Amino acid sequence: MNIAVFSAKSYDKEYFSKHNKTYNHTLTYFDAPLDTKTVSLTKEFDVVCVFVNDTIDAKTIAELAENGVQIVALRCAGFNNVDLEAAKKHNIRVVRVPAYSPHAVVEHAIALLFTLNRKTHKAYNRIRENNYSLEKLIGYDVYGKTVGIIGTGNIGKIFAEIIKGFGCRVLLYDIYPSEELQEKGFEYVSLETLCEESDIISLHCPLNKNTKHIINTKSLKTMKQGVVIINTSRGGLINTKDAIKALKTKKIGALGIDVYEQEENLFFRDLSESIIYDDVIARLITFPNVLITSHQGFFTHDALTEIAETTLSNISNFEKGNVTNQVEI
Ligand code: NAI
Repeated sequence: MNIAVFSAKSYDKEYFSKHNKTYNHTLTYFDAPLDTKTVSLTKEFDVVCVFVNDTIDAKTIAELAENGVQIVALRCAGFNNVDLEAAKKHNIRVVRVPAYSPHAVVEHAIALLFTLNRKTHKAYNRIRENNYSLEKLIGYDVYGKTVGIIGTGNIGKIFAEIIKGFGCRVLLYDIYPSEELQEKGFEYVSLETLCEESDIISLHCPLNKNTKHIINTKSLKTMKQGVVIINTSRGGLINTKDAIKALKTKKIGALGIDVYEQEENLFFRDLSESIIYDDVIARLITFPNVLITSHQGFFTHDALTEIAETTLSNISNFEKGNVTNQVEI
């Protein structure tokens, strides 16, 4: 099929072109994201292939349909950036990669937690300047801490197993508790209990109208003083302005985020020579106990391989009339 790949970076081109050798689709790469400004580029295409910060809203969908695009192939798991109602109305299928490497995201979440705790990023810089002092590098044992996990799907489940391996007490919250985890002895609690009892909270639920700003001033008030929050899921789960207030009062002891509410204006780009107009992220960066990465949780060789394979096979399956990994409303 004729595929327009939007928001294409060097690594997308490398992995998609390599794996397409067995699928033989025609790939055209666009650096720009898909949105109302770029949708006019899709006239010749059957398929658009998009990522987390493309905006596939009702207006974009209507124009995609007009241009003859039949399918939106997400090369990610989350689909909060697609207007599914509009896609259904215009008979455009939406497919995704439901689980490409949950381990990649979990390992990154763990890296954020341990970097914040043991301050290895600061130690690295110190040693390069021949500063061998330990002052201000003090951490804590993660062993024995209570860790709350919100969302126990593909990623949250693995996070639960791994953090338990560190000797933590694990509390889980999900609107659909996993029988598998319960059988293994994991404990599900209410969101309120999880917030009250956790020393560390890691977010692994999707962004939707029920989870938007699940971390806000109200929920933060119920948490322990110095709670550590890790978010590798979606930026909109945290009300960033409320988090900044909680960092100022030391309610939040450390914040590790791989995702950010306004990330589409910043992430995946080199802005080192640009003026940053986002004062919220500018403030966040000033806190010594905040660690930000730019949505790289998925970024491993294994995950990129799986993403390219599943996306291309989703498209081939659609062509054969057998839709796989469809996102249903
Ligand atoms: P999943 O769909 O397997 O699991 C999500 C879980 O959240 C489900 O068990 C679901 O029941 C639960 N959930 C839904 N609404 C909830 C609510 N209101 N409260 C509590 N739990 C709720 O998704 P998966 O694969 O585990 O991914 C989780 C999220 O991680 C994705 O939605 C995506 O936003 C993010 N992600 C981030 C990546 C990164 O590179 N940082 C890469 C891949 C995914």
